[in-house]
Amino acid sequence: MLKIAHRGAKAYEPENTLQAFQKALDLNSDGIELDVHLSLDGHIIVIHDETIDRTTNGKGLINDFTLAELKSFLIDEKYQIPTLNEVFDLVDKKCLINIELKGLGTANKVVSLIEEYISEKGWKYEHFIISSFDWNMLEETSSLNPNIPIGVLTEEDINIALAFAKKIKAKAIHPDFQLLNKENVHQMQEKGFLVLPWTVNSEEEIQKVKSHNVDGIISDNPDKI
Ligand code: G3P
Ligand code: CA
Repeated sequence: MLKIAHRGAKAYEPENTLQAFQKALDLNSDGIELDVHLSLDGHIIVIHDETIDRTTNGKGLINDFTLAELKSFLIDEKYQIPTLNEVFDLVDKKCLINIELKGLGTANKVVSLIEEYISEKGWKYEHFIISSFDWNMLEETSSLNPNIPIGVLTEEDINIALAFAKKIKAKAIHPDFQLLNKENVHQMQEKGFLVLPWTVNSEEEIQKVKSHNVDGIISDNPDKI
């Protein structure tokens, strides 16, 4: 049962910050989940929304700012928005990293960065899983480098996600946990896919998805899993 910290250990530190990812490591998480967009100057930025409005003291689209400009905005008045390189360096192979592609153009950049960390810093493909609700970006990822593990995100039909996962030879399916029952979890697993539901936070929800025999859980509080 993989314990994967959603946007870092979001229940304890501001989401998608180095502090949240450090907290996830401190809680012995097996993995972290994070979201990425591109800055104006092409850096991979770890942030959930397409704007900085909700999580920082600034306003505007991430794509409209350079990395230097993004670094001047603060999260909770003290933390900076991290780049994906900074998160990789913090984690340093200590757990799995689930990178959710949100912003357009991220697939190519993320694949290149993963390849760099594998060839130059001793990381392995098993340290990564790329997911997205935008399945075109997953197809792009798979065609750029078929060795990178892929997780098919879905909040709709499990059967459609299963068919797509087969088509692109994904490693996992990441369903909204409310779609799951014991039968469809088994159906996905017998086709060879890991089942990693999100975002499962309460003890009651965690117990319920555990009873479906999932392979891991993406949670704001991975310590409760
Ligand atoms: O990866 C699962 C989950 O993170 C998807 O939803 O909105 O939290 O990115 P969201
Ligand atoms: Ca996410």
